[in-house]
Amino acid sequence: MEFKDVMQQRRAVNFFDPTKDVTEAQLKEIIETAALAPSGFNLQPWNLIVLRDKAKKEMLRKVAWDQPKITDAPVVLIVLGDREGFKKGNAGFEKDFAESVKAGIMKQEQYDWFINAANSLYGVSPERQLAFACKNTGFFAMSLMLAAKDAGLDSHPMDGFDIDGVRKAFNIPDQYWIPLLLAIGYFDKTKTLLPPKWRKSYNEIVVNF
Ligand SMILES: Cc1cc2nc3c(=O)[nH]c(=O)nc-3n(C[C@H](O)[C@H](O)[C@H](O)COP(=O)(O)O)c2cc1C
Repeated sequence: MEFKDVMQQRRAVNFFDPTKDVTEAQLKEIIETAALAPSGFNLQPWNLIVLRDKAKKEMLRKVAWDQPKITDAPVVLIVLGDREGFKKGNAGFEKDFAESVKAGIMKQEQYDWFINAANSLYGVSPERQLAFACKNTGFFAMSLMLAAKDAGLDSHPMDGFDIDGVRKAFNIPDQYWIPLLLAIGYFDKTKTLLPPKWRKSYNEIVVNF
């Protein structure tokens, strides 16, 4: 699809066709396309819990405002942002450094510099840690929605959920924030899609202080 068509045709679809599945191959393609999203220092502090199982989706729905799309959609992703993804010892951090050395982007002797640089940007307060996890994971989540649309699928992002309830139900460690849930599947064509929503104009977006 043309980029602008993907942007225009992606909608938060409220109704999914429960009879149409998403294959593992489709899901893998969407996730790996979205993984091309940029991140600070290429740290990629995102993870996903993939729910397909009916009972698990019902469990999630109970702590997510009873939103029917959670059980209607064939796939629901619990999107996770790793608040510790910039720290020495974190698997993502260590892999990022090792790959950067392998690619000749960094030298082994820059290890301590890298630890300190990442920490000075992202580790100085809990607020910065949260911002690090959420902004990068937000780029990834947006890319998931666009990749799904490009592959002919529909999606729905949700932050209508009880974060502590989801954390508890799915044993999610405290280091992860949960920026959103994302349902993926096919729009139920027997339902009516709401008209496109308003968007801010150029003049409303650009500001000066
Ligand atoms: C982070 C995020 C969280 C959202 N949470 C919910 C939600 O819990 N329930 C819901 O019905 N819609 C939710 N939405 C959908 C928005 O209402 C929708 O994206 C917006 O109105 C624009 O419509 P469109 O996506 O069809 O263009 C969410 C969207 C985003 C990006």
